[in-house]
Amino acid sequence: MTNGDAPETAVRRDRFSGGPAREFLSSLAADERIFAADLAVDRAHVVMLAEQGIVEGGVAGEILAALADVEAAGHGALPDGEDVHEAIETAVIDRVGPDGGKMHTARSRNDEVATCIRYRLRGDLLDAAAATVTLREALVETAREHVETVMPGYTHLQPAQPITVAHWILSYESAVARDTARLLDAYDRTNRSPLGAAAFAGTPFDVDRDRTAALLGFDGTVRNSMDAAASRDFLAEAASALATHATTLSGLAEDVIIYANKGLVELDDDYSSTSSIMPQKKNPDTLELVRGVAGDAVGEVSGTLTALKGLPRAYNRDLQRVHPGVFEAADAVTEATRVAAGAVATADWNDEALAAAAGEGFSTATGVADLLAMAGLPFRTAHEIVAAAAEAVEDGMDPATAAAKVDEAAAEVLGESVFAYVSRQDVEDALDPAHSVASRDSAGGPAPAAVAEELSAAGDAVEADAAAVDAHRDALAEAADALEAEVADYV
Ligand code: ARG
Repeated sequence: MTNGDAPETAVRRDRFSGGPAREFLSSLAADERIFAADLAVDRAHVVMLAEQGIVEGGVAGEILAALADVEAAGHGALPDGEDVHEAIETAVIDRVGPDGGKMHTARSRNDEVATCIRYRLRGDLLDAAAATVTLREALVETAREHVETVMPGYTHLQPAQPITVAHWILSYESAVARDTARLLDAYDRTNRSPLGAAAFAGTPFDVDRDRTAALLGFDGTVRNSMDAAASRDFLAEAASALATHATTLSGLAEDVIIYANKGLVELDDDYSSTSSIMPQKKNPDTLELVRGVAGDAVGEVSGTLTALKGLPRAYNRDLQRVHPGVFEAADAVTEATRVAAGAVATADWNDEALAAAAGEGFSTATGVADLLAMAGLPFRTAHEIVAAAAEAVEDGMDPATAAAKVDEAAAEVLGESVFAYVSRQDVEDALDPAHSVASRDSAGGPAPAAVAEELSAAGDAVEADAAAVDAHRDALAEAADALEAEVADYV
């Protein structure tokens, strides 16, 4: 009997027939995402019930054997039910007989579903965190190749000051590093077990909540039984961490789209699309989709918080509608992160175009003003001189001519030559984009020396975060193996 037809042995039999709202009530289709989680939660609960003497070992064995059978048949073969929890229980009862119903002793679907969501989401959060680590590896790798590659830095989309490709890349690597941290924080608060809270008011059975938590690889329990059954702030936090990261990605994507449009970088064909009508086109579609994912993810935060806002304690059915969207956001953001990593790793930076663009729009003006201020002029006066020169300095002008323009401006503003303060050579150097970049060696600045330090710190942090993700994954895999071994003792 499959999802569509009502089985004769359905859990709670005919108390509620369903009627016209049956489909509306059901989460069975969406619950496919937590099918495996529910089986694990069932197993841990039944093992604990047997250990505590709440269910006889023989019955536990029969239930656990039936669960293996249900797992092998798959989600699609489940009988009808309001949700995956009911359907699995019905399938177990179908196989074991009425004793199968003992699996639902000392629990409720409320603590059960909350446990399933956390069980599944924690893995998804690790996948998302791992993707951010992969992206950071790609960013660091590319930055290493471009420590000396001068490019224009923009504010208000106008050329502002020259920087390097590595410096621009590391500005995103730093942001993605915080995204990794936020995802791992969300993991920590997600990875707590609500199981044993029952409907919300605990249970008179002598359950061992710490035991089921350990069997399921959780780092402890959500203690208060009402909080455990009702709280979904971990979903809001996960959605928010995902949306924040998606927002970082959208900026990265937008920058690359703009740079590609200016001919400063070329996307690999694998990350571009052609037009179905305009044969000459090469469009940055993948990055536009990466940029677009932020919209879904931000919408998910808003949807989650709106659903949770004002919900009374304890369980309310509204909750059924919250987690599916967060799972979708996790999928979309993780995929976008992987695509962004591939696009960055394969993009080709056009050194010549970058160098030419780096000096456009008198982008070295601030450096010249800094030079005059370092020679003793008040920065405001230096600013005024260079602002006056900006009207005369043109793109592509040779340094000697440009320096003469600065001197003319100084004569206007100061009434004396600028060369009374600085040498002609120093002014010409300050007008050179590469020289300008190299001079800005303050901590975290774009000078190759400063970037080298940042690069090495970023490389270390990426390794540490990769190890943290692996350690969490290992702990979960170990718990899954241990649970399997416990189950094997009964069947
Ligand atoms: N499918 C439900 C959900 O996802 C399970 C909990 C049902 N509990 C209840 N009291 N109706 O939230």
